Amino acid sequence: MKTFVFLSIVALCSAKSLLQNEFLHFLAEQDIMLQDPPQNTSHIIQPQQRSTPASTPDDPFFICPLKCVCQVRVVQCSDADLQSVPAKIPKDTVMLDLQNNKITEIKESDLKNVPLLYALFLINNQITKIHPKAFRSTKHLKLLYLSWNLLPQIPTNLPASLLELRIDDNKIKKIQKEAFKGMKFLHVLEMSGNPLDTTGIEPDAFDGVLRLIYIRISQAKLTSVPKNLPSNLYELYLDHNKISSIELEDFRRYKDLYRLDLSFNQIKDIENGSLAYLPNLRQIHLENNKVKKVPASIKKLKYLQAVYLHNNNISKIEVDDFCPKESRIKKLYYSGISLFGNPVKHWEIEPASFRCVSGAHGVQLGNFRK
Ligand SMILES: *[C@@H]1O[C@H](CO)[C@@H](O)[C@H](O)[C@H]1NC(C)=O
Ligand SMILES: *[C@@H]1O[C@H](CO)[C@@H](O)[C@H](O)[C@H]1NC(C)=O
Ligand SMILES: *[C@@H]1O[C@H](CO)[C@@H](O)[C@H](O)[C@H]1NC(C)=O
Repeated sequence: MKTFVFLSIVALCSAKSLLQNEFLHFLAEQDIMLQDPPQNTSHIIQPQQRSTPASTPDDPFFICPLKCVCQVRVVQCSDADLQSVPAKIPKDTVMLDLQNNKITEIKESDLKNVPLLYALFLINNQITKIHPKAFRSTKHLKLLYLSWNLLPQIPTNLPASLLELRIDDNKIKKIQKEAFKGMKFLHVLEMSGNPLDTTGIEPDAFDGVLRLIYIRISQAKLTSVPKNLPSNLYELYLDHNKISSIELEDFRRYKDLYRLDLSFNQIKDIENGSLAYLPNLRQIHLENNKVKKVPASIKKLKYLQAVYLHNNNISKIEVDDFCPKESRIKKLYYSGISLFGNPVKHWEIEPASFRCVSGAHGVQLGNFRK
């Protein structure tokens, strides 16, 4: 319970990879990782080897699974050529690392005896299926990393306790209805590198998800901004997709966004007013697109500080494109605007266009800086 409260507090600060750090904290708090890693690991491939006295669990018949290293409550079996989840994982395991193996499936009983599991790392295996009841006993699982596998969809019945789900670089084409059912604590979702198109996201795919604040769907096949993601997102990463235009209603739902990444798409048109739905935006990435002019609502964003517009097709910058006529509107000055790699002739830009930029190096126009 204490851990959960702690996680929730930190979660409010920032979402990005904090959970991982946090998990290390959690382990440190529990005196789990305070020992040095084993210097001589030749013992680990011998079955039935006891752990060092300092880390031997209370159970005198404790056995670490073959090819794994067991320290108190942490079982590491990465890079071990495993084709399935090892049997007889110690019952008090909180972290199970099975990265870089050849596991093809998570079977119904694979995780039955690890009720305290907090983090499960299955990155870079060959998993095509996860049994719908596989997670029935892991009621405390918070971190589930399934990146770089062959999963065709979001596994059904994932634990409701999850805080962070990484399922990037799989084969997911669709996010089915209520895919995250009951996961009301989920706040980080990494789904990049899947062949997912915008139309593959069912309208009610995220029903019941209440606290998701970070989504990354980079390097997918999105052709437009998904309109049915959870509404309380702080960070949305849609870079390296095939989005060609931004329409007025695209961001209507996401009024809390503070960081938006749309770089490396094919965006030509940004409809007037479409960004005005994002009053809290601090940072916007639009670089490496085909944008022809500075989006009209940029100047209305009071707190916007960083605008990435380099490598686009902007040929003219008007004196009020970035800074509103009425200076009171802008609450925070820009700390950075990048404009290099555009056809605009920088000597034709009026210096007053950047009157609401702080610092001498806030604008990058090309080979020289303002
Ligand atoms: C590692 O430990 C084994 C016994 O467990 C021993 O035979 C071997 O010489 C040790 N290797 C090194 C490099 O210390
Ligand atoms: C977009 O807004 C600008 C001024 O902000 C205006 O000049 C332009 O005509 C508008 N375009 C459309 C298509 O409404
Ligand atoms: C850039 O815009 C011009 C018209 O303003 C257009 O002729 C040209 O094809 C555009 N370039 C690209 C790469 O989209």
